[in-house]
Amino acid sequence: MKIKQSIRKQVVEKLKHLTNEQYIKQSAQIAQHLFDSRCWKKAQLIAITIPRDQEVDTYEIIKMGWKQNKIIAVPRADFKTKTMTFYELTSFDKLEESAFRVKEPKESLCRTISKEEIGLVIVPGVAFDKRGYRLGYGGGFYDRFLPQIKVPTIALAFTCQLVKEVPIDIHDWKIDHIISPMGFYR
Ligand SMILES: Nc1ncnc2c1ncn2[C@@H]1O[C@H](COP(=O)(O)OP(=O)(O)OP(=O)(O)O)[C@@H](O)[C@H]1O
Ligand SMILES: [Mg+2]
Repeated sequence: MKIKQSIRKQVVEKLKHLTNEQYIKQSAQIAQHLFDSRCWKKAQLIAITIPRDQEVDTYEIIKMGWKQNKIIAVPRADFKTKTMTFYELTSFDKLEESAFRVKEPKESLCRTISKEEIGLVIVPGVAFDKRGYRLGYGGGFYDRFLPQIKVPTIALAFTCQLVKEVPIDIHDWKIDHIISPMGFYR
């Protein structure tokens, strides 16, 4: 647990050093690799999160999804049950800032999406390794959610988020693909 926290801290610190130009350019490169992928092209409904701080920009990805008539689903986290419910996002106006500065869909304005509707999951995280293991923000939300679905999972990562080996526990769940500015890392 301690090792996880220290790697989280190290990577978050490195992310802070990305310049604005690097952030924009590298996010665009990552997005382009995603748009070119079979997973993206095939999926009609994409589960994704809104970036916080220096996470890869997903606003442009969501806009492209809308443009291509895909359905975009964004989760709300329930900290009591440590579970997530996904809602269809049709406009950024339907977001609200909830716990830990995370932007989530307003329940009253957005349709609930069932797990079975999801065709692709873009999984957030702090650090990733070549095996597909990831270090999230420490809530275990995605580690609980991912075993319940059988569709492709992709993480988007700046180069400094790719680490040699993420320390893993028994509950940690692998992701299928990792996209970096250079292309598919896995
Ligand atoms: N499938 C699970 N069932 C029960 N508890 C779990 C499960 N997955 C994770 N947890 C618990 O959640 C806590 C956080 O896990 P971990 O440190 O791996 O989070 P994380 O991978 O960074 O978070 P996230 O998945 O939200 O990105 C751990 O204490 C772990 O025991
Ligand atoms: Mg984990």
